[in-house]
Amino acid sequence: MNKALRRPVIAGNWKMNQTPAEAKALIEQMKPLVADADCDVVLCVPYVDLQAAMEAAEGSNIRIGAENCHWAQKGAFTGEVSAEMLKAMGVPYVIIGHSERRQYFGETDETVQKRVRAALDAGLTVILCVGEYLQQREQGITEEVVRLQTKIALGGVSAEELKRIIIAYEPVWAIGTGKTATAEQANEVNHAIRVCVGELYGKEAADALVVQYGGSMNAGNAKELLAQPDVDGGLIGGASLKAADFSVIVGAAS
Ligand code: PGA
Repeated sequence: MNKALRRPVIAGNWKMNQTPAEAKALIEQMKPLVADADCDVVLCVPYVDLQAAMEAAEGSNIRIGAENCHWAQKGAFTGEVSAEMLKAMGVPYVIIGHSERRQYFGETDETVQKRVRAALDAGLTVILCVGEYLQQREQGITEEVVRLQTKIALGGVSAEELKRIIIAYEPVWAIGTGKTATAEQANEVNHAIRVCVGELYGKEAADALVVQYGGSMNAGNAKELLAQPDVDGGLIGGASLKAADFSVIVGAAS
């Protein structure tokens, strides 16, 4: 499985941070720092920042994404935003199934699958998050958990559509905790995800799949994580709010 076949993707996940004015200022700071990146650079931002972020990023190599989307095209879903609405804005990326959505907002494997379907139908590229809780790792069922999450989320996704899926392996115990998975742990699970996708779609599709690692990736540990054969990029939370740190991670992937 040749890593050189895949172009790394470094994606920021701003979570519930940055006003539109702050978003604009941060992107203006980042633009020159990541201009020479030899990887794809994406910033996933709160809905209210999307317009300002896209304007600030225009003409640069930074692409903008949302952090979630609903599965219906429109309707009585107070507080939700549809994939169609993101498409209408020209937003190319969306995160689906982040563990904070699963943990705090009742997201299940089934709702993740529905959101993935809607995002693909709208022509978006999906950053699909999977990952185990600490207790599951301690029980030795990490691979089973991650395989199940992957399989359910990809239910009904065609081989052609898979080209618009990025999978982010994010162990829940490593998110925002400063506890990064070791490079070996990250690679092992990323590899298991690739094997799982290979079983479903064949070797060529698995070889082409971008599998990111996420969970306390930062300027200090990015190089080692990104050097792993099955780690094709990162989904970066905290460190994506600092232009200098984020650009070091982008540099490490390039
Ligand atoms: P973190 O977040 O880098 O702050 O751990 C990663 C994520 O939740 O995507």
